[in-house]
Formats: sequence, structure tokens, C-alpha cells
Amino acid sequence: MTRLVKVGVIGTGFIGPAHIEAARRTFLAEVIGLADINEEVARYKAEQYAVSRCYGDYRELLRDDDVEVVHICTPNYLHYEMSREALLAGKHVICEKPLAMNRKEAEELVELAEKKNLLHAVHFNIRYYPLAREARQMVKGGQVGTVFAVHGSYLRDWLFYETDYNWRLEPELSGESRAIADIGSHWLDLLEYITGQKVTEVFADFATFHKVRKKPLKPVETYAGKILQPEDYQSILINTEDYASVLLHFANGAHGVLTVNQVAAGRKNRLYYEIDGSRCALSWDSERPNELWIGRRDKANEILMKDPSLLSPKTREIVSFPGGHNEGFPDTSKHLFREVYRCILEGKIRSQEERDFPTFVDGLREVMLCEAILRSARTGKWVAVE
Ligand SMILES: NC(=O)c1ccc[n+]([C@@H]2O[C@H](COP(=O)([O-])OP(=O)(O)OC[C@H]3O[C@@H](n4cnc5c(N)ncnc54)[C@H](O)[C@@H]3O)[C@@H](O)[C@H]2O)c1
Repeated sequence: MTRLVKVGVIGTGFIGPAHIEAARRTFLAEVIGLADINEEVARYKAEQYAVSRCYGDYRELLRDDDVEVVHICTPNYLHYEMSREALLAGKHVICEKPLAMNRKEAEELVELAEKKNLLHAVHFNIRYYPLAREARQMVKGGQVGTVFAVHGSYLRDWLFYETDYNWRLEPELSGESRAIADIGSHWLDLLEYITGQKVTEVFADFATFHKVRKKPLKPVETYAGKILQPEDYQSILINTEDYASVLLHFANGAHGVLTVNQVAAGRKNRLYYEIDGSRCALSWDSERPNELWIGRRDKANEILMKDPSLLSPKTREIVSFPGGHNEGFPDTSKHLFREVYRCILEGKIRSQEERDFPTFVDGLREVMLCEAILRSARTGKWVAVE
């Protein structure tokens, strides 16, 4: 039997268990340990997810010599410190987005990871929908022609009510930008990945619809099945964006516009884009991820269904099932992790150009974009991304 990569996961709230499940489904790794906020939580989660070693302090997991790669799935403000310490402990790192709270921290992590000759990845998983890679292959292969314009959105409704509350609403834990850093970063990463074009300048308009939110005074789970009373809440002033629209200029002269909104009723988790090229247009909706729309002027439009027999060899690498057998969100992480684990198993710390998976360099890129967008929203001016 081939050897399995030994994985440790820090943070097991929403996305941590998705990492555990996806890591197991690669068939290339075993999850040997997890760490969470304290011993009680860690023990409970380890039992729930059948992980043999658990730690109430992440530093203990980093001291576990058997762990080769650490997945960091904690709130944003912890990513820098945990990634840095993991690298110093000689571990490969797969970190959640955003990589860090600011550019300085992100640059330091890129430098440290390269110096230590360790693998580094950021979980920009949306790239791993097969039809995202196919769109990239189509642009690369010239089928789309010159990219003239790009537009789209990332809409969600999980912060629709003023009583919806999460650590992401607190800048000390989440960062100075919310909607752009949390979901806009996925869209920007995806569109730069597909088009092969970097955003060079941004012009942003932000809005905060709920300027005051009600924070439950006790953990929300405590109230399951109950109606909250006014005295159960504390009013909190909100100073990060619920909504943003950003005009974009790309390196090849293409124009773009992105809208993100975390207060969009009925939109559960909908990333949408349209790319208008000189030969055809492409559009894709993450809530129907197995269909790519191809728009044509001189003949009928097409819908390309995800089916390995219809896709390029490069895309087939990240398809697990035949056509009609839908692949979705959990499969994206599986394929991203497969690529990282394969490098570990082959002992190859490939150069940036050879890696398909998003690295700390891409994580730094998103932090830079986010900072430029914030600066533009504050100054009301175009800001260069440099
Ligand atoms: N790529 C994606 O699709 C995606 C989706 C969701 C979340 N995320 C990212 O994942 C991260 C976590 O988000 P979430 O929604 O899972 O949050 P969450 O609040 O559901 O989970 C966070 C976990 O971290 C643990 N934690 C907090 N402080 C800790 C500490 N000091 N040591 C160890 N554990 C600690 C918490 O107890 C909890 O288990 C965020 O950075 C977010 O941006 C990415």
C-alpha cells in the first residue's frame, strides 16, 4: 500500500470538518490529529469525527512529530500566527482564506514558506469545480478570444437579519473588510485564474445596511428552538461592509465589475460570472456548478455539461465521476488537497509555475486586492493594485 500523508487540522467549526472529510476522500491522506479552542471541545470533536489524537492547544498539535501537513481552519485573525508557527515547526500548510490580516503578514508568510522549502496552499477551492478549470483551458486555448469584459457577483443571505451574528462581523477577528475579504476574494481569485489576467486598478463603493446588529449574549446554539428576548441581545455598531460593488481594470485592458452582498434574500451561496470574449462568452453559476453556458453570436448558444468525455485532459484530472453524476462543493476541496498531497508524497516542492493549486502567493495577492479595494472605498478614487 502506498504511504498516506499525515494530516492535522486546527479549528473544527464549519469548514474544519469539510477539510477532514475531503482529506479522507483523497485516498492519499489520513487525519491523525485535530486541535480546537480547548480540550473539552477538541475531545468532543475528535470523537464526532473519529480522529484519534486531539489537542486543546494548537501548539501541541504542531509539536506532534507525525503530523506532516497542517490545515488551518480557524477565524481569520489566527491564520498568520498559526501558519507562521506551523512553518517554523517544519510542517506543510494549507491555510483558509484570507491568508493574513494585512499585506505585511502575508508577505512574511510567503517568504518564510519559501525559505523553509515547505508546501504552502490557500483554500481557494472554487477553482476546483471542473468547469472552472475548463473555462480556464478555453481561455488559454484561444477559444474565448480576447477577453473584453468580465462581470458577476457573489451573493448570500446568511447575514440578512440584524439578528444574524458571527465573528466575521468583528474586525479584530475578521479584518477591516468583510464581504470583499470573505467572499469577494473567491470571485477575484477565480476570475484572475480563469482569464489569466491580473486586476490592475479598482474603484469601490461599499454599503453597510445593518449599521447596528444584535449580538446574542450567549452562544447561539444555546437558543436552539427558543425565541430570543430583547434582553438576550447586545447592540453592536457595525463598521465593515455588507455590500460592495467594484469596478475593475485588467492588465490586458479588459473591464469588469463585481458585486458582493451578504444581505441578498434568497441567495444562499451564489457566485456568478460572465466573461465576454471576442469569440464567445462564458457564464457560470456556483449553484448550478455542472453547467457552463457558452454564448455565441453566429450560432446557437451551448450548455456544456460536466462530463469527462467532453472536457480537456487537464480538466479531467479533477473529475471523479461520469457525466450526470453531479460534483459539487465537497469535491473541490478534495481535488485541491489531492494536488498538495501528491507533491508531498512525490517529495516535490514544485516551483510556483508548476503548481496548479493556489499558494501563499495567491493568498498574498488577495490580501493586496482587498487592501486596494478598501482604500478606494474610503477615498472614492481609483486605486492601483501594486
Ligand atoms: N474556502 C471556503 O469555502 C470557506 C468556507 C467557510 C469558511 N472559510 C474560512 O475558514 C475559516 C473558519 O471559518 P468557519 O466558518 O469554519 O468558522 P467557525 O467559527 O465555524 O469555526 C472556527 C473554529 O476555530 C476554532 N478556534 C477558534 N479559536 C481557536 C484557537 N485559538 N485554537 C484552535 N481553534 C480555535 C473554533 O472553536 C471553531 O471550531 C475562516 O477563515 C473562513 O474565512 C472558508
